[in-house]
Amino acid sequence: MATGDFSDRDGLIWIDGEIVPWRDAKVHILTHGLHYASSVFEGERAYEGNIFLCQEHSERFIRSADLIDMPMPYTAEELNNAKYEILKANNLSDAYIRPVAWRGSEQLGISAQDTKTHVAIACWEWPSYFGDEAREKGISLEIAKWRAPMPDTATTASKAAGLYATHTMSKHAAEANGFTDALMLDYRGLVAECTGANIFMVKDGKIKTPVPDCFLNGLTRQTVIKLAQEHNIDIEECQIELDELLAADEIFVTGTAAEITAIGKINDNEYTVGPVTRQLREAYESLVRQKNAIAA
Ligand SMILES: Cc1ncc(COP(=O)(O)O)c(C=O)c1O
Repeated sequence: MATGDFSDRDGLIWIDGEIVPWRDAKVHILTHGLHYASSVFEGERAYEGNIFLCQEHSERFIRSADLIDMPMPYTAEELNNAKYEILKANNLSDAYIRPVAWRGSEQLGISAQDTKTHVAIACWEWPSYFGDEAREKGISLEIAKWRAPMPDTATTASKAAGLYATHTMSKHAAEANGFTDALMLDYRGLVAECTGANIFMVKDGKIKTPVPDCFLNGLTRQTVIKLAQEHNIDIEECQIELDELLAADEIFVTGTAAEITAIGKINDNEYTVGPVTRQLREAYESLVRQKNAIAA
């Protein structure tokens, strides 16, 4: 992951239809999004100049905004064009892309009817989310104190900034204890997801993954389900108890940033990077480099 202050870099950022120097892409301190978390974002990757699932990410971005009642001023097509425009302007072909939309400073208070939705898109080089060692050994997870909320208490299907406060706290707590990331259970105590990735388990050659009824149904998750079906691997979306997960033969997580990353440890339980994880990882790595790849 890139280090250093993200506000102090060379490069260009697309903001409200204009391309501006990286250091000039600023918002005012009285921005509604900053005070009331009226903000949604995306995380995407370009491989060899091709944005993987570009259209699907744009559609999710619009849907995320819609779910928090924030009008999105651009169509998916306009967003797609803007993403490619800023990628090219920065001369990047393998990159992470971060679109973000937020309510501006036109009004400050709970009511935000007079605010405008602003949109920015930044991109930068970002090789591997968890680093190369994770490839062979897998990453470690600690079970978080925080849980995925009931779907009628939060906009859980939206990639809304406000949902990430507990994810950051969970990740910090895990890191403080020497783990890479945190595994979050849901409000019922069932297995949910990690702080920025979905989770899968393999037992006796069969894959299981939790039903995304109170957390983000990741595009990588949907892609991996399709890949498993194409490879004739038995896969089921179902409720998973923690004990069942801990007794798995293989565990892996999926996400745009994480791609497919094996789990080597959850609390004191250890796992190896198994054959199903390796097979799907290989299939995913080849798919993302195909032009016009389509999700499930
Ligand atoms: C909380 C959370 N869950 C799951 C995911 C995986 O989603 P995707 O595969 O669409 O990147 C992400 C990443 O966006 C995330 O932040």
